[in-house]
Amino acid sequence: MPTYLETGFNRTGAQTSPLALHSMQSYADLQTPTAPPTAEGEPDGKALAPLRSTYVLDADRVGSVPMPGTLTGAFTTAASRLTGMRPEVLVDKLGERLAFERSGVRLYQALIDKTEALASTSMQLPFSAEALRHLRDEELEHMHIVASALDSLGADSSAQTPSADVAGVASSGVMQVLTDPRTTMSQCLEALLSAELLDEACWSLLIRLAEEAGQDVLIPHFQRALRHEEEHLVRVRGWLETLMLNELG
Ligand SMILES: [Fe+2]
Repeated sequence: MPTYLETGFNRTGAQTSPLALHSMQSYADLQTPTAPPTAEGEPDGKALAPLRSTYVLDADRVGSVPMPGTLTGAFTTAASRLTGMRPEVLVDKLGERLAFERSGVRLYQALIDKTEALASTSMQLPFSAEALRHLRDEELEHMHIVASALDSLGADSSAQTPSADVAGVASSGVMQVLTDPRTTMSQCLEALLSAELLDEACWSLLIRLAEEAGQDVLIPHFQRALRHEEEHLVRVRGWLETLMLNELG
């Protein structure tokens, strides 16, 4: 398992073969992606924009929110401020948070597995598997907070909402980095940091939406999750900085 970056026979840069630079640039110029050629048969990069525009205008949505038929009780009676609002927006974002926190548990578990594998090496880490387990368990708690919130609103916490779907696609790269056995710990932490930055921002947004929707009973639970996420962010950022400074020497 690699622990630090190393120099090696990397042939991707132009310095490796200066004499081939011109032919490499010519080849790249010919590889304009998916753009129809001009009347003269030449690649036309400008043709890509109208092509994308056609797809955008024709596209359907990414799924739908399962409501309002299932939304009853607390959501419709206790939330008088929701009159004139679109509660499916809040349900969609709650579904997104649930999916993201579930992914967060898996991300931390992947990092725990890598950390435990490294325990048999001489590599010194600025954190322990136990510290990671603590953060993983908080992500799990957050998932349950969101599931309870959806249940209390009469929404289906087992449904995948559109934003949950999109968030899963967006975060799939982070999971790939963490589960790739070749990635170093600092590469994993940087990927995890991107997830934690997003997590903190999205909890803040969720609190704002819940306030606006008059769902005051949910806010203390969401604020607890936000406090955790702020701490996660500080810790992951600090670990990454320590590791990178160690790598630099
Ligand atoms: Fe977190």
